[in-house]
Amino acid sequence: MSESSESEIYRPYPEAVAGSWAENWEEIEARAKADPYTYWEERASELVWSQRWDQVVDDSNKPFYKWFVGGKTNIVTNAVDRHVTGPHKNKLALIWESEDGKTVRTFSYFSLNREVEKMSNIIRAMGVNKGDRVTIYLPRIPEVFFAMLACAKLGAVHSVVFAGFSADALSSRIDDSESKLVITADGSWINGSVFPLKDIVDEAVRFSPTVENVIVVKRTGTEVTMDPTRDHWYHDLENLPISRGRCETVQLDAEDPLYILYTSGSTGKPKAILHTHGGYMVGTYTTLKYTFDIREDDRFWCTADAGWVTGHSYLVYGPLLNGATTFMYEGGPTFPHPDRWWRLIEHYGITTFYTAPTAIRSLMRFGDAWATRHDLSSLRLLGSVGEPINPAAWHWFYDVIGGGKAPLMDTWWQTETGMFQIAGVPAMPQKPGSGGRPVFGQEAEILDEAGNPVPDGQEGFLTLKNPWPAMARTIYGDDQRFVDTYWSTYPGRYTTGDAAKRDADGYFWVIGRTDDVIKVSGHRLGTAEVESAINSHPAVSESAAIGLPHEVKGNAIHAFVVLNQGHTGNRELTEEIRAHVSTHLSPIAKPDEITFTDSLPKTRSGKIMRRVLRARALGQDEGDLSTLED
Ligand code: WT7
Repeated sequence: MSESSESEIYRPYPEAVAGSWAENWEEIEARAKADPYTYWEERASELVWSQRWDQVVDDSNKPFYKWFVGGKTNIVTNAVDRHVTGPHKNKLALIWESEDGKTVRTFSYFSLNREVEKMSNIIRAMGVNKGDRVTIYLPRIPEVFFAMLACAKLGAVHSVVFAGFSADALSSRIDDSESKLVITADGSWINGSVFPLKDIVDEAVRFSPTVENVIVVKRTGTEVTMDPTRDHWYHDLENLPISRGRCETVQLDAEDPLYILYTSGSTGKPKAILHTHGGYMVGTYTTLKYTFDIREDDRFWCTADAGWVTGHSYLVYGPLLNGATTFMYEGGPTFPHPDRWWRLIEHYGITTFYTAPTAIRSLMRFGDAWATRHDLSSLRLLGSVGEPINPAAWHWFYDVIGGGKAPLMDTWWQTETGMFQIAGVPAMPQKPGSGGRPVFGQEAEILDEAGNPVPDGQEGFLTLKNPWPAMARTIYGDDQRFVDTYWSTYPGRYTTGDAAKRDADGYFWVIGRTDDVIKVSGHRLGTAEVESAINSHPAVSESAAIGLPHEVKGNAIHAFVVLNQGHTGNRELTEEIRAHVSTHLSPIAKPDEITFTDSLPKTRSGKIMRRVLRARALGQDEGDLSTLED
């Protein structure tokens, strides 16, 4: 990966700007900077509220900010209802294609609403009420939209768990959230084979004290065990009278919770990030609208799974809030051939394509011909998220996929931020590898260890200065951890955990995590969870996981493992431990390499010094070893 150049600038957009808001983007940016609260208030006013707020921001109890205080709405009022009664009634809200390519399901806003009402009626009849938690463990099928929106409609709090997590991981998330309902499918399709979702749910809920019902969507036709006291086929429920009729969207306080989403931290168990109806709605609506310049005839494709925040904000909520057409594809990018994504773009006339650098790097390897045989001229805008995009991937995406005419929006944000934080607008000149500037209304600053701003061009810790509407409100059930993790390093500032620098034009260049979080193929993993999965293998005494640069995945996990007496580190055991991590955490967390060792470098207080392992593995200077135990 070559170094990116701060002076390489692209300005592909001017012809598309004429006559639209984008002509005046610098003015909008300047006004938002001068008065962010008014800027956000104006954006909120573009949406429907059953009661207007009394106060834009209540910051009397920092960092527990409240937005649009006193306002009443529901994200579904704006993502679905207002379109059904307006000009978008018959517009396509969702287009879905199955992995085998044989089934296409499309939903207008009208028919999406019917599906959401049906699912809300059903889950309400099962006793799901405002404030109750519901775990959704579904593959990329339209029902994941219905389930999320149905919960939101009733004011229930959804907790979507990526349908690639193991039973252990699912079970701890169900228990932590005390979900009373789980919505899943019999199985999911992955590269032509079935992943047994229902079996995993069975294992996960076996000892769960809170789960009363499990709804199962039939997708793969796989044989599953149904517990008659707990499990229900969705297609049976759909035929019951309870599913029929209108279902009112419950009007909620702006600050009522919309969802929790688990994400990895540097220590301990995954954190349940909590987002709310009002602010999250305004934030995702606005950032998608501006950064991707959403237009009436767009077909927006975000390749993320609904199990991650990107799927929440920019596959489901953001596009629907904007009355756009969102596209979802069920399967893998190379199934059955490496041109599947390009074929879909051509076939559906995708205009805006938002994906991750790791996907671009993996598809690049198959050569240009897979892409160039398709007519990709519908593409108007490209987007990247999840990790820094290296220049080679940027150029391939921009030149070969975008044909050198579609601005590539690099969006930096996090599960906790809910919405883009550093991302340009299409008319802002592009620099490959930089997301540009903070979004309108936000200011970012790079600080040194002591909290002083560092000069431009120098690396430091990325912090955010202003509160923003879609900010996480807390870690569900652990306010103190929320304060400690994000707001204590630099009082009054949100700490991102990332290293970055700013150039002379005010563009931000994100370098990567500064903590024990590893981004593998854009997925966020904590060393602690990976190690705890490894350590649960009976042969293992202790372990340390680190991320090392990988050409396609960005980072790959290398694990250093100390075995219990009587075990020998060999090929078989390596494979066994890798498989163990796969089934006890997730296939995405599987270490690429395992090194058996007699001991791990530790501080005198017993903390594993992963940076020493990293430096050794990379052949770099090991730095200050004064705290090393031996
Ligand atoms: C971490 C957050 C919310 C997006 C999906 C990931 C890294 C994310 C970029 C980018 C460089 C990026 C950061 C961040 N990251 N986007 N455009 N350029 N790094 O959300 O799983 O919560 O991970 O992803 O390190 O802290 P997440």
